[in-house]
Amino acid sequence: MINLGVLASGRGSNLQAIIDACEGGPLHGQARVAAVVSDNPEARALGRAARHGVPAVVVERRAHKGREAYEQAIVAALRERGVDLVCLAGYMRLVGRVLLEAFPGRVINIHPALLPSFPGLEAQRQALEHGAKVSGCTVHFVDEGTDSGPIILQRAVPVREDDDVDSLSARILEEEHRAYVEAIALHASGLLVVTGRRVHILGEGKEQ
Ligand code: GAR
Repeated sequence: MINLGVLASGRGSNLQAIIDACEGGPLHGQARVAAVVSDNPEARALGRAARHGVPAVVVERRAHKGREAYEQAIVAALRERGVDLVCLAGYMRLVGRVLLEAFPGRVINIHPALLPSFPGLEAQRQALEHGAKVSGCTVHFVDEGTDSGPIILQRAVPVREDDDVDSLSARILEEEHRAYVEAIALHASGLLVVTGRRVHILGEGKEQ
């Protein structure tokens, strides 16, 4: 059983999907959410954690002098709960050296586009404005860049003629919830091996 620490800044629907998967879904017996950390005291993610009895803490950036001190406080909260894998779920800040060195190869993120297309903010709007016909989501390991770490898995969705940002975001979000749970299950089973930029999934392809 691995302990997940989820960092969320807002709505927390990915957090909810992860909690549900741990409680009675595909992650049951494999992972549990041991801690939720938010940089935003108003985040809806905090209420979701409370409803499921998951310990949650608010660590505000402005309460700390620099990014290092801020991340040290996050690391302390995660370590206190014995976190093995850190999952960014709508965490709207760049992650720095302190957090990455505390959890080497153990910080993952979900992004609402098919990376390396459309990194950064408002990825769904970027895809729509660019005229992409297909977009989707990416679960990836986190490095110090913006959505630039090794890709674990991706799911594609069509961009429809009549899409606006809301309708495209909703279609992508459904896939995010599934993809994030799947990626966590692969990690929890020890099936992910990273060599350079490539993430190999052990056993995949053998059945073909
Ligand atoms: C999700 O679409 C997630 O992929 C995105 O924010 C949303 C959070 O929703 N993350 C990023 O854009 C990070 N660059 P949620 O709070 O309901 O999980």
